[in-house]
Amino acid sequence: MNHAAAAVSQQRQWDRLMAMAQLGAIPGNGVNRACLTELDRQARRLLIAWAKDIGATVSVDAAANLWLHRDGSDPQAAPVVTGSHMDTQPNGGRFDGIYGVIAGLEALTALHDAGVTPRRPIEVVAWTNEEGGRFAPGCMGSMSWSNFRRIEDFADVVDPDGVRFGDALAAHLAAESDLPTRPLGSKPHAYVEAHIEQGPRLEAADLDIGVVTGIQGSRWFTVTLTGETAHAGTTPLALRHDAVQDMVRAITALNALMHDAKDVLRFTIGRIVVAPNTSNSVADRVSFTIDFRHPDKAVLLARGDAVAGVVQAAVRDAGVTVQETFHALPVEFSPVVIDAVERAATDQQCKYMHLPSGAFHDAQFVVPVCPTGMIFVPCRKGISHNPAEYSEPAQLAAGTRVLTETLLDLAEG
Ligand code: GLV
Ligand code: MN
Ligand code: MN
Repeated sequence: MNHAAAAVSQQRQWDRLMAMAQLGAIPGNGVNRACLTELDRQARRLLIAWAKDIGATVSVDAAANLWLHRDGSDPQAAPVVTGSHMDTQPNGGRFDGIYGVIAGLEALTALHDAGVTPRRPIEVVAWTNEEGGRFAPGCMGSMSWSNFRRIEDFADVVDPDGVRFGDALAAHLAAESDLPTRPLGSKPHAYVEAHIEQGPRLEAADLDIGVVTGIQGSRWFTVTLTGETAHAGTTPLALRHDAVQDMVRAITALNALMHDAKDVLRFTIGRIVVAPNTSNSVADRVSFTIDFRHPDKAVLLARGDAVAGVVQAAVRDAGVTVQETFHALPVEFSPVVIDAVERAATDQQCKYMHLPSGAFHDAQFVVPVCPTGMIFVPCRKGISHNPAEYSEPAQLAAGTRVLTETLLDLAEG
């Protein structure tokens, strides 16, 4: 076994994951650590302390993406980057996102402990707001780093309490102003992200590693329906402009649009906000979100483009706006990274399969910038975005050994 990978410590990595899970712990072993909150800052500070212990340098960019850097032997060489995100869903688990960051740190720590310095620098990035749970959409940090969107474009997005993303970001950067800054955007040699699978396939096939081939496309929309509030006991149905009833019509029509007998298409209404939200008033305002995903670009474009028209045609009494908030086309990962992950998995005697990702990841937005790929580890019953999310310490450590070898392989190239 490669001796840097052999220096990966299952116990240290698990202890760090469990320490991170304390920051925002919720009942049932879950975590609620929304991006750019005090808890997010505490998690970042803990990561920074561990990085400093091994002499890694730390910096932050204008999107608050946090970077840990370990020098290579060639100061001119472009770095190999790994990482993921530290924010969670409001009712999230202990591994989604944070595993990829802690695995990256564990790889750096193993290289440090083994005294191994490859030619290229290795960097670990913690991307800001991957989940989109507090500020929608997700992947704001990676989208702005790759110049897919500008960070300023998100300034006016508000969280459920009305806090602007731009204000939360400015406050966070001010609070972290002791950290060195770096420009937003860079040109790595390659990027590889470790993550729990968030699906059932690896466990069902009794495998250790998923060599990820690509990510399906995602589109998010917010539909807002504006009716008129009225007394529930006295107002005849014929005189109502009931936003909730129009929401039901719209969702029924969308379910028909998104029907897929093969069950490949993913269609979710995950958030509904109703006003005034009382039992005995007709609702004058509803907004609901649509999360729509498909691996085939043509289907993603055709059905996504039909959403606004289908909603307009379905509603009867309310005014309608449909805003698209996220648009990520399907991506395929680079053979450069896929082959390196496969070599590492083989060397580590891990059983692996190739599989695509149904979840989106920051890696999706790194694809246009440099050769990109991902490593999945199994998670119990495929459960994720749920406090019950679980991967075993040994499964997580195997993934990190494969990550370490992959990084070394790419960093010598
Ligand atoms: C990421 O969290 C996703 O929703 O796919
Ligand atoms: Mn994630
Ligand atoms: Mn997630």
